[in-house]
Amino acid sequence: MLKKNLLFIPILLIAIILSCIENHISDEKTVNGSSNLDKEIEKKVDSVLNLMQLNEKIGQLVQYSGKWNATGPSSSKSDQYKLDKLKKGEVGSMLNITSVASIRETQKIVMEHSRLKIPLIFAYDVIHGYKTIFPIPLGESASWDLDIIKQTASVAAKETAASGIQWTFAPMVDISRDARWGRIMEGAGEDTYLNTVVGVARIQGFQGNDLSKTNTIAACAKHFAGYGFAEAGRDYNTVNIGDNELHNTILPPFKAAAEAGVATFMNSFNEIDGIPSTGNKVLQREILKSGWNWNGFVVSDWGSIKEMIAHGYAEDNKHAAEIALNAGSDMDMESYVYEAHLEDLVNEEKVSEQLIDDSVRRVLRLKFELGLFDDPFKYCNDEREETEIYTEEHLAIARDGAKKSIVLLKNETNLLPLSKNLKSIAVIGPLADDKDTPLGNWRAKGEYNSAVSVLEGVKHAVGEHTKIYYEKGAELTIPTLKSGQNQFLHPLKFNNSDTSGIPAAVEAAKKAEVVIMAIGENAYQTGEGRSQTEIGFFGVQQQLLEAVYAVNKNVIIVLMNGRPMDISWAANHMPSILECWFLGSESGNAIADVMFGDYNPSGKLPVSFPRSVGQEPLYYNQKNTGRPYSQKHVTFSGYTDSPKTPLYPFGYGLSYTTFEYENLKLDKSEISRSGEIKVSIEITNTGYRDGEEVVQLYIRDLFGSLTRPIKELKDFKKLMIKAGETKIVNFTINAEKLKFYTVNKKWEVEPGDFNVWVGGDSNATLKATFTVLE
Ligand code: BGC
Repeated sequence: MLKKNLLFIPILLIAIILSCIENHISDEKTVNGSSNLDKEIEKKVDSVLNLMQLNEKIGQLVQYSGKWNATGPSSSKSDQYKLDKLKKGEVGSMLNITSVASIRETQKIVMEHSRLKIPLIFAYDVIHGYKTIFPIPLGESASWDLDIIKQTASVAAKETAASGIQWTFAPMVDISRDARWGRIMEGAGEDTYLNTVVGVARIQGFQGNDLSKTNTIAACAKHFAGYGFAEAGRDYNTVNIGDNELHNTILPPFKAAAEAGVATFMNSFNEIDGIPSTGNKVLQREILKSGWNWNGFVVSDWGSIKEMIAHGYAEDNKHAAEIALNAGSDMDMESYVYEAHLEDLVNEEKVSEQLIDDSVRRVLRLKFELGLFDDPFKYCNDEREETEIYTEEHLAIARDGAKKSIVLLKNETNLLPLSKNLKSIAVIGPLADDKDTPLGNWRAKGEYNSAVSVLEGVKHAVGEHTKIYYEKGAELTIPTLKSGQNQFLHPLKFNNSDTSGIPAAVEAAKKAEVVIMAIGENAYQTGEGRSQTEIGFFGVQQQLLEAVYAVNKNVIIVLMNGRPMDISWAANHMPSILECWFLGSESGNAIADVMFGDYNPSGKLPVSFPRSVGQEPLYYNQKNTGRPYSQKHVTFSGYTDSPKTPLYPFGYGLSYTTFEYENLKLDKSEISRSGEIKVSIEITNTGYRDGEEVVQLYIRDLFGSLTRPIKELKDFKKLMIKAGETKIVNFTINAEKLKFYTVNKKWEVEPGDFNVWVGGDSNATLKATFTVLE
């Protein structure tokens, strides 16, 4: 270790000496606001910057991928090219290099060969766990449990850091209202408030309160901005939204991320109203860096700078580099255009060196905060890599997170929870004994086939006297996809139409007291590039379901999926449905915990479930329109062939017990614009089991300078209520909750009447009203 440390002493020493002579805090910081900057770090950053030549500065703004594990069109440069650049100190960061040994090797190249020995920062997409895999983000958001969300992110950070990496490209805080969009699995669903609080919890989990610790990592709020609003749910597609939608719906989670001190942002592939986000100066410079006073750096998305040519917004690579840097994209991920053109652009005065300095300063700042200048190898600890990844303790947290993420959608005959003394159970379906699908997409180092399957979970839960019949019934798996293989294979190739497994499944169902039916999606049907026009059951799953139901009515559907699916037929016929997403390493055990009543389900949907794909995009906080409803005429905003309401609304989820809401009270009926109202509600557990409930508060601003949604989630509390017990829950409504981005392009509370509802989902009917006075 001592020898390694000696390698980087020169730069640190010079930096410290210079920092003593030089005491200025740069103008740029005043421009961007520097109240929360650490002065000591700023001095060091400035002194390093003073030593740098232009090529080295530009180098800090370059990020390469390791060849393996590419997440976009594969990298166009050879390993030798990258090696030469590393040696010259012309690379600031690497992604997709994942092990202490490889990271040490790569960092060593820079430390041994480059002039200034500025350490690299290593990044990886740790989206829902590193090797211990937690529920996919959409699923985990269904827990509405910010403590467990923070905890799983912090375990993910610990494992990531133990493998030498310091930076994850998460959380994704894109609002997504369209089930067709494959990346809906990566965020917290359709609601702005839920995405905001979940995003902040994840950032706190990843970053802790000290980035220099070796068990925390830098987070990245992505994709800035509007990516989840791709037209028709088609990934990378055009986004056409106005200022109202942008500010009121899309930006709040990003602003909260910036305020929570997220280290980095990633911009997005899409354009908004004709301008690709990567080249959007208003978003990146005016709003993010100046407006929000944020001092981190923005990494481009994979190749997104270069893609501005395909968008028709940049003429060529050089132009793309010029636009992106001027617009505030600090780091070029895999476009290779900063390194190729920024130097010329500076010489031609098309990009100012001051702006380059600002970007470099932002990158160096994080490297100092992470402690990489003190020890570039500080995250490279072989022992930790051995002992701190995929531990029993982490798996226990994965199980806890997984069971809290399950949503009970239907339990009409109280078929659930099951007794552990049943004589026979049939476990049927393509996902029933699947040990891989529960890991979901973006599973980082989650090992192929390493999850606990539903069948295994059931076997662990019941005694020997319960006879279990297992039949697959249908195919849905990608047979050969192993860890490290390209996850970007096209999933439609694997849509299997073989019905030969159905008769055996029917026989098993006939023999059993109850049927557990594990169906849904393949893990790779959602994730990047996985947009679909159909969101029902692929392959012959529907046929299988109907055939099984014909011989046994006691069917529990265990639904695994990364998006809201069209499950209308099942919802009409099946007695019980459990929404189980892709729950990660401990999936089967967590599902069994819920099915056999060891855990009373408490999850609530973070996204509306449609009656059919034709309703998409579907979300609860829609506008009223001028023609909201008519029973007599067709000329209102609805469908002629379907209700416009969802099958299951946002915020919905059942429990094995029941809750009754009453006595919604406000402490006053009028307030000033800056005033506040106390809201209280009584909730009684009217069933026979203790259970947790997510108490949700919605408001509606009835009239505004811009039209307002018919309901907006503004707060929630998750609490345990014992059987028979009544609890009073209090909320406060203040200006923070009432203001919106108005026609004046300011966040303001407007006077007028408001409705407030409190209940167990977005259909809450218990209502009160109040007025905000002029
Ligand atoms: C995705 C990003 C991801 C990046 C690096 C891109 O294709 O859009 O979310 O972080 O690849 O893997």
